[in-house]
Amino acid sequence: MCGIVGYSGKRDAVGLLTSGLSKLEYRGYDSAGIAVCKADGTVEMVKSKGRLAILEEKLANKGLSGNAGIGHTRWATHGEPSDANSHPHRSGRVTLVHNGIIENYMQLKEELIAEGKVFLSDTDTEVVVALIDRFYEEDPIEAIYKTTAVIRGSYALGVMFDDIPNTIYAIRKDSPLVIGVGKDEVIIASDIPAFLSETRDYYLLDEGELAIVRDGTVSFCDATLAEHKKELLTASWDVEAAEKGGYPHFMLKEMHEQPKTLKDTVFPRIDEAGNILKNELKDTSYIKRIHIVGCGSAMHAGLLGKAFIEKYARVPVSVEIASEFRYANPVLGEGDVIVLISQSGETADSLAVIKLAKELNIPTVGIVNVVGSSIARAADTVIYTNAGPEIAVATTKAYTAQVSVLYLLGLRLAADRGTIGTADYNAIVEALKLLPEAAKKVLENEEHYKELAKEYFEARDMFFIGRGQDSALCCEGSLKLKEISYMHSEAYAAGELKHGTISLISEGVPVVAVATTEAMFEKTVSNIKEVTSRGADVIFVTQFDDVGGFYKDKIALPAIHEAIMPILAIIPLQLFAYYVSIERGCDVDKPRNLAKSVTVE
Ligand code: F6R
Repeated sequence: MCGIVGYSGKRDAVGLLTSGLSKLEYRGYDSAGIAVCKADGTVEMVKSKGRLAILEEKLANKGLSGNAGIGHTRWATHGEPSDANSHPHRSGRVTLVHNGIIENYMQLKEELIAEGKVFLSDTDTEVVVALIDRFYEEDPIEAIYKTTAVIRGSYALGVMFDDIPNTIYAIRKDSPLVIGVGKDEVIIASDIPAFLSETRDYYLLDEGELAIVRDGTVSFCDATLAEHKKELLTASWDVEAAEKGGYPHFMLKEMHEQPKTLKDTVFPRIDEAGNILKNELKDTSYIKRIHIVGCGSAMHAGLLGKAFIEKYARVPVSVEIASEFRYANPVLGEGDVIVLISQSGETADSLAVIKLAKELNIPTVGIVNVVGSSIARAADTVIYTNAGPEIAVATTKAYTAQVSVLYLLGLRLAADRGTIGTADYNAIVEALKLLPEAAKKVLENEEHYKELAKEYFEARDMFFIGRGQDSALCCEGSLKLKEISYMHSEAYAAGELKHGTISLISEGVPVVAVATTEAMFEKTVSNIKEVTSRGADVIFVTQFDDVGGFYKDKIALPAIHEAIMPILAIIPLQLFAYYVSIERGCDVDKPRNLAKSVTVE
């Protein structure tokens, strides 16, 4: 995700800002920029699409210098990577950097346009700076709080005002900001590595609290404008640990980010009236048949999408592996749409499918994480998964974000076609809004999944079984385990076992059995009994109570509408795979033979 750095002190801000931003490169970015308050008090900014080196070159040519400034690395979410969309953004007397997503920016932007405001970028951020400028009369703090009262979503902001030299205001909600304190200097940042080479002393900015950084000092106040003192903390992390937010691996960090990434993906897509994907999808009436295409986990997300879309929207869906589909001479025609799912947006086989669709004049929808990637650019319509940069090779947060977008798509199609009752629609929409909190609850039981991993890590094989949506989910649970722990694993539709695979079940073979739908619960339990009576050790994954006795271990899920339960159910399976991999001494973030972005076929 985006990185913020701000500096105030006696040294030249430019070097410290660029070096701070370089320490945040691991967060992923596609453009960068800084704004500096010059000696004459005016604010000047330089920004650029691309790597920091390009920005540094521009800065050197400009000869920019000053003792206070804000800098930003942008990981695009609203608007493609470009100079215009890069931060800082300016409006009137205000300059600002932002990390996060403003959910109601469209509505606010329309209001500001009606008042005559002209926007220069496609970002949600420009709305924030325009609002602060609109509210700014005499008191900058009042202008900032008036703005945070009307914006919805997540933000960490660094703000400068033209007429208040050498001063930075910082505030946050659901996006991180830490404030490093050195001798006569202060560095604000999204993350500790940005200032670790300068100081280890820092403050954690609380939600809604405002930091005022001026001439190398910092003070804090709240919305009542009352100043208060804070505890100064000392970082004990080394730089590498700090980049992972204190987690030992990116994969663990990314799994823990899921409450936030789900929120960032889902919430901006549901407006106050409960309409879904209104900005992304104008007309859906032409869609008669959907082909969901992707590779690996992205294709697995598609399997869950199929179950949901067919159930609620009654549109036929096929799920295809991109490397097969591109050469299969697929039967495509009027009313067909291809939904391409890809985290990286660069997967060669998936990209080839988009090209094929274009040749055949078939409309395409891309569900993509990386803004401005090849697939995002090529697709007729793009719905971004706002999961932020995913660094671990094994996908976790991007996968759950993909599934959540497919559920949103299914609901939208169902609403447009009138195939879902109001009560069901509202119940699922409400459940989607509860998803981030429910995901937090699942993550709280991490110790249990770790214990299970210790119990099963020495197994030679492991099977995953379930029916319907759980069968689709098992494909992903099994892939997660085998790709990072190198344990042989397979996923099966639970009712299919007795047609062959059950001959592999013998004493002590672990079987993960998932049952998240009431309709299939008893049938899955029968299948579990078939394997336990042949000696299998079953780990049962469900939100339902049961009488026990037919499994060895249980992963209990918190209650949520069962239609979206797979998003919760995959989280323990991701963590289980992670801890099995740790127990087996594998390189979790970079499993052998695998690459994050598969740009060859
Ligand atoms: C597995 C995994 C892969 C990707 C697949 C598609 O954990 O990450 O299976 O899902 O390579 O990649 P994208 O989504 O970038 O097209």
